[in-house]
Amino acid sequence: MNVLIIYCHPSKTSYTYEILQYLKSTLEKAQIDFEISDLYAMNFQTDMTAEEYMREGFANLELPIPEDVQKEHQKIAKADCIIFLYPVWWSDCPAKLKGWFDRVYSVGYAYGYNVECKTQVMKTVPKGIVICTAGHSNEFLNEIGIAESMRNIMLDDRLGKRFDNKEMIILGGTIDKEKVASIHLETIQSIEKKIQNQYN
Ligand SMILES: Cc1cc2nc3c(=O)[nH]c(=O)nc-3n(C[C@H](O)[C@H](O)[C@H](O)COP(=O)(O)O)c2cc1C
Repeated sequence: MNVLIIYCHPSKTSYTYEILQYLKSTLEKAQIDFEISDLYAMNFQTDMTAEEYMREGFANLELPIPEDVQKEHQKIAKADCIIFLYPVWWSDCPAKLKGWFDRVYSVGYAYGYNVECKTQVMKTVPKGIVICTAGHSNEFLNEIGIAESMRNIMLDDRLGKRFDNKEMIILGGTIDKEKVASIHLETIQSIEKKIQNQYN
């Protein structure tokens, strides 16, 4: 069982970083192997260059895939489960994670391939879990329709058919952390079972 965590937050003093630490210790206790793509710590390039656009924008599969993107493809190839962990910023993921999708979901790999495609095609990942921390409460995000739109974009579009089994967990109400922290930690603990039971 291999888990890949795509983590996106710039600060080690953040609540999202605390959640990451808790997630790591939960996986360690369950003896589940994991690796982390910490996008800020890696200084992962998330702007597409004009040169890269020549490949992506025109589906020119003869052009090379950048090395850092290939490394992410290799991590995905090994993963039985991918967890995306980030804070909600303006009702979506931070721009840096959006840029990971822009570049890592390259044409001919994550979409736009056909039977004659000679490039490596993204495998179907058995399990995808999206975890986001949010200042607003879950109730409020549901009431104003933002929770549904975040689910539509992350689960239906970005994870899409590339994942067999997927879910989104919103750890809301972080404006009042004391009130929600223990529920959030219980939710993170329950992730172990979700990963172990992914084929059920
Ligand atoms: C730039 C920015 C935009 C934010 N936008 C939202 C938002 O649209 N909805 C929301 O519920 N919380 C929003 N928040 C609050 C964060 O989701 C919250 O601070 C985070 O989940 C937990 O805090 P952390 O940064 O300590 O990890 C925003 C915070 C920042 C810094």
